[in-house]
Amino acid sequence: MKRLLLIFHSQSGHTRRLAEAAAAGAAELEDEIELRVRDARAATLDDLLWAQGLLLGTPENFGYMSGALKDFMDRTYYAAEGKTIGLPYAVFISCDNDGRGAVSAIERIATGYGWRQIAAALICRGEVTPEHEAQARELGQTLAAGLTLGLF
Ligand SMILES: Cc1cc2nc3c(=O)[nH]c(=O)nc-3n(C[C@H](O)[C@H](O)[C@H](O)COP(=O)(O)O)c2cc1C
Repeated sequence: MKRLLLIFHSQSGHTRRLAEAAAAGAAELEDEIELRVRDARAATLDDLLWAQGLLLGTPENFGYMSGALKDFMDRTYYAAEGKTIGLPYAVFISCDNDGRGAVSAIERIATGYGWRQIAAALICRGEVTPEHEAQARELGQTLAAGLTLGLF
């Protein structure tokens, strides 16, 4: 079994819907994937060190990732230093009209952890649509499938 961690934060529920879709995509490989889903405020260093793959979901707030996801990184960055090198990860964002600030902030910090991005960031603008949910589902599936096939 490969271990996949999904960490997200959502204030009004949009990112939560994407997270549920991404989790459903990963769960399609339930025989081979152990999935752990955590609200960013409850996610811990132990969760991160447990993971062999990581999905991160956040709204864009003020041109940045949500404070809750940033807090997770603040709490784990130095404690995880050198211990998550090469961790394959992917990002999904819910936002009104931009999303790029959140993506670039996450990518910059992920580089510091030494993580490896396995897919372009998924940016979902405006109301969450069935197409957004399908894309999030595919992202979860892609990471899970890549893990089980040993591609990452
Ligand atoms: C405090 C705050 C700041 C926001 N800043 C941005 C922003 O900088 N860019 C943007 O595109 N959307 C921004 N938004 C819109 C949210 O990203 C958007 O509503 C998102 O879908 C919320 O996701 P959630 O329901 O998971 O919390 C902001 C929303 C809030 C509440």
